[in-house]
Amino acid sequence: MKKTVLSGVQATGSLHLGNYLGAISNWLKMQEDYNCLFFLADLHAITVDQNPADLKHSIISSAAIYLASGIDPKKSIIFPQSMVSAHSELAWIFNCVTPIGWLKRMTQFKDKAANADSASLGLFAYPVLMAADILIYKADLVPTGEDQKQHLELARDIAGVINRKCQNEIFKLPEPLITGVATRIMSLKDGSKKMSKSDAQENSRINLIDSPDVILEKIKKAKTDNIQGVSYEPETRPEIANLINIYSALTGISSEDIIAKYDSGVFSKFKMDLAEIIIDKLNPIRSEYERLMQNTDYLVDILKAGAERAEKIATKTLDEIKTSFGFVV
Ligand code: ADP
Ligand code: TRP
Repeated sequence: MKKTVLSGVQATGSLHLGNYLGAISNWLKMQEDYNCLFFLADLHAITVDQNPADLKHSIISSAAIYLASGIDPKKSIIFPQSMVSAHSELAWIFNCVTPIGWLKRMTQFKDKAANADSASLGLFAYPVLMAADILIYKADLVPTGEDQKQHLELARDIAGVINRKCQNEIFKLPEPLITGVATRIMSLKDGSKKMSKSDAQENSRINLIDSPDVILEKIKKAKTDNIQGVSYEPETRPEIANLINIYSALTGISSEDIIAKYDSGVFSKFKMDLAEIIIDKLNPIRSEYERLMQNTDYLVDILKAGAERAEKIATKTLDEIKTSFGFVV
């Protein structure tokens, strides 16, 4: 029996290098050996206000990026979360067994909701929906970046609550898979903040569909420091360490070897080489993305076909839980 792998990216804005290195690049390696489901977290997207036209564009363009990056609909199930309503139904049941205290501890909520009283209830319940996404497919492995670790632990805790309540091992505990040197790519403008779609500063991230000129400019303008040379000191030189991590993740060259190559040279040479490495990696993704976006009907068809396959699995789990809770199914 192949194990099940599940992951998703929020369908907002444009996917960036952090999403690729922290999540999507790891998914690619798993397509051969696992039953994979990769979805677009569009219901998570609306936990903060979205313009409808932008949301629609984000869903379709994120699907195009999945495909352009190498996620293959013949091997993996690709779908938007909102097309499989069982996620939301299971999330409601989970809402009813999850202590508020657990959610109050979530650092992402604390970061995003500076003023907790005006934040939406959906933003607060965000990790519960995420637990439903994972557990509804009884996923064994969940490959994500570092920032999702706390949410994945919550999903395991919710699985435990349900198993105890139903006195049955309905859910196995999903394993987080947070691997590689690029589990937390930082902003190009601030080495203490992660690269994120929601950062207002466009120059803080490399979007997967940025043109070569834009990538070069962003890397040239990436924050550095006044210390001479290239050295790997995440504590004191976080911005440089981040650039080395990106270099390393894209080439497979260790940080020691990168430093050995550049430490005696000028810093601008390191930046120019890094820009070229990023451009070479992203060029094929961008051109395939542009080709796919010419035919959005095809992309919608892929999503609908994926949702149909996902729904069969999801409905089975939902019925099992509903029966255990005493609902008439
Ligand atoms: P964002 O914060 O940019 O909106 P998401 O929350 O949608 O990104 O994250 C989608 C996936 O990409 C998750 O697995 C997440 O852990 C990963 N990810 C997001 N940002 C980064 C980053 N800066 N470095 C590494 N992985 C990241
Ligand atoms: N919260 C995740 C993020 O921001 C996206 C997501 C939603 C997810 N549901 C998931 C990731 C389930 C993995 C599994 O990146």
